[in-house]
Formats: sequence, structure tokens, C-alpha cells
Amino acid sequence: MRTPPFRRRRAELARRLAAAGGGMAIVPTAPMQMRNGDNEHPFRHGSHFHYLSGFDEPHSCLVLHADGCSELFCHAANAERSVWEGPMLGPEAAPQALGVDLAWPIERLDELLPELMGRVRNVWTLFTVPSAIDQRLPGWLARARTRAGLGAEGPVHRDLGPLVDEMRLIKDADEIDTMRRAAAISAAAHARAMRYCGQRLRADPAAAVREYEIEAELLHEFRRRGATGPAYGSIVAAGGNACVLHHAAGPGELRAGQLCLVDAGCELDGYASDISRTFPADGRFTGPQRTLYDVVLAAQQVAVAATRPGSRQRDAHEAAVRVLSQGLLDHGLLARDRHGDVDAVMASGAYRRFYMHDTGHWLGRDVHDVGEYLSLQEPAVDQPDFRGGRVVRAPSRRLECGMVVTLEPGLYVQPAPDVPEAFWNIGIRIEDDAVVVPGGCELISRAVPVEPDAIEAWMSAH
Ligand code: GLY
Ligand code: MN
Ligand code: MN
Repeated sequence: MRTPPFRRRRAELARRLAAAGGGMAIVPTAPMQMRNGDNEHPFRHGSHFHYLSGFDEPHSCLVLHADGCSELFCHAANAERSVWEGPMLGPEAAPQALGVDLAWPIERLDELLPELMGRVRNVWTLFTVPSAIDQRLPGWLARARTRAGLGAEGPVHRDLGPLVDEMRLIKDADEIDTMRRAAAISAAAHARAMRYCGQRLRADPAAAVREYEIEAELLHEFRRRGATGPAYGSIVAAGGNACVLHHAAGPGELRAGQLCLVDAGCELDGYASDISRTFPADGRFTGPQRTLYDVVLAAQQVAVAATRPGSRQRDAHEAAVRVLSQGLLDHGLLARDRHGDVDAVMASGAYRRFYMHDTGHWLGRDVHDVGEYLSLQEPAVDQPDFRGGRVVRAPSRRLECGMVVTLEPGLYVQPAPDVPEAFWNIGIRIEDDAVVVPGGCELISRAVPVEPDAIEAWMSAH
């Protein structure tokens, strides 16, 4: 029988803790967040906590010792509270249900943690993840030091982030299965959004479809297929709104002849998906739209080809930028007499006027998932920086099987006198989710058309 993933991950982290000097890790779940008045945001677990525990209740904290012993602090099962908040697992049931060794009521955290901390040399917490224990931790450390009689020397407070982040960066089979399902739901939602626009404008070619209507189609498909909801704020941008990279779906009107850029993905069982598609509102690309779409799609194709074990995460970006830059020169968005050839455009960063973001990021529990992007063991080298200048730093990290990245080139053309008017207000992004597999990568988000002919066929056939 396979060890359940959460137990397996705790055992692996305990091994890593032991190798890094031992001690205990404290991993609380996310704090509840107030929305307004006495109204809370819906609770969403902490990503690291859930990765290690599989436990969804708020007000919980995992303690993991380097010898592999795990302890969970959670709300005591309480009949009165359950009337309001539903059934709770409680510390009595937690060891059996979650495979932890010990469990305690969360109210005992202040009493027991300084005690436990007083016995170890290293206390590991997540330095960069805000949590409900941040205010209390300095006091616990002070008490632990007094108790341990170690004076100011110990226990030492160390950052757990890099240890767990490295684990989370390489997805196991359970995680990839979940991410595949999340991407399939998101793809279905994008296909639904395209179909909706096509139908509306076929029925009434003069209609204006609001961005929020399209967002509603996405949400409908996410929820009806069992996703928790969006993994991040859905971007639905009509026409020129697409040139605002994080344009939230609003009342913007989408009309025949315009493009619609949708960047939306659901969260399923704690995992994000992240897909962008750009489609013509009425189901037919205009000539200039198709021209730029073909450039962005070609850029994505070379990014896909550059994504394989052993290549660097940044290679996809370099490859995409070369194709985009060439396209900008070929179609007169960058003048050759002013900007030179494609190498000059890449070196000067002139392309950044139309392509100002990166080509991808790690994807996992967080849409911009954890994990180091640089190969810190290698010597620093002089290289292009994100802003089109130069920087001396460690090279980009090499890809390994089980990493999941997005590949998301785009072009965004604001009106300007030195840009051919035919391209004004065209904003295009094409984004897919890629699992690094032996010899290449597998796109898990392709159950929605991406080739322009396939988009047109889908929108006219439904
Ligand atoms: N949806 C945010 C991103 O693509 O990175
Ligand atoms: Mn993305
Ligand atoms: Mn996206």
C-alpha cells in the first residue's frame, strides 16, 4: 500500500530538518481575514500547512520534529460551535484521521509550544508567510530560551521556507493528478466563455457583451464541476482593456470586431490552474488580430519546445522574446531603422513596450508557486534582467521532471502615433500549464482551442 501523501511529505520534511541541523518546525494554517464589519472572508487554508497535513479547518497548527514525530493543534470538537461552523475533527480524532502522532486543542498552543521549543536547538517557521502566530512567536522564543537555560544563544530561529518550497516545487503523482483535473475544469470554463460570446453575437451582431457576463460563465463552469472557485481574480478584458495586464472583469463592453482576453483558472483541492485565451468576440479574427495572434502563438510554441528537463526555466522566455521581437519588426511595430535587427531589439529591451511581463512562473498550490528560480550553486553570470537591462546573478534554474510551469507570452499594443493604427488596442496573451516530463513537457490545459482556426471553428459550431 502507498503511504498517503501527507504522511510521506511530513517524513521527507523531517529528513530534511534532520539533515539541516534538527529541531522542530511550526507550520500554522492561514489566519482568518476580516472582510468588513464582523464579516469574514471565506477561509482558505495555508498552502504549506495543507501540503503537510491535508487538514482544512481554520485555527490549526502543525508541529513537526526532526525525528519524524508530528503534532497537530486544532479546535476541540464542540457541539455549540458546530451549530454555527459545522462538524469539527477535534484532537481526539485527529491522529486516526490524519496520521499525526499527537493532537492538542489549539487553546494549549501558548502553554505547550514554549515548552517544546525549550528542548530543541532550532525552531523553524515560515518567515515570508503571514500567520496567526507571528505576534506570539517572539514571546514563545523568549520563554523557551529562559526555560532551556540557554541564554540568548538558543533556540535558533530559522526559515523553514526554502526546505518546504523545494519539496513543493517538484510535484508528486497525487499533485499532478489534481493539477490535471484543475486544468481540465479551467479549459472547459474557457471553452464555455468562447461559446457564450459566439452565441450572443450570432443572435445579435450589434450586441455588447459585458465582461462580467463572461466572468459569470467561467465561475459557473468552475463551480458546477466541483472546483472551489477561481485561483486568482479572473481577468476578462474587452478590446483595449487587455492592454491593462491585470484588468479585472468589469462592465466593459465587448463588441463584434474586438478581441476578448480571458486569464482565469480554478482552484481544485488546493491546487491552482492558470489559463489565458484570447478570442474574437464574434468568432472571426480580423487580419491584424490574426497577424499578431500568430506571432504570440509561435512564441508560445518555441517556449514549449524550450521546456524540458535540463533546460533552464528562463530559456522559454528568451525563446519567446526572440519570436515576439522578430514579429514586432516584421509587422512594423518596431522600426528596423531605429531599433536594428532582432538581436539588437532583444539587447535593448525595445520589445518591452509591447511585452512587459515574464513568460512563465511555477504553478502549484499558489498560482505563482513557491520555489527558487535561480541555480544558486552556480557562479553568478552577466545576463539580461527582467527589465531589459543587465544584471550579474546566478543563472536560471534547470528544469526537472515534476516541475509545473506556465508558458504565457503576449503582446499588448497601446495606441501611439509611431505604431500602425491597425494594431491599436490589440492585447493578446496565450497561457498554458506545462508539466515537465522526460524529454519535454506536457500541456495539461489544452482542452480548449488555441490555434486560431480551431477557435473560429469552436465558436461557429456551438
Ligand atoms: N494569472 C496571473 C498570471 O498569469 O500570472
Ligand atoms: Mn500565469
Ligand atoms: Mn494567468
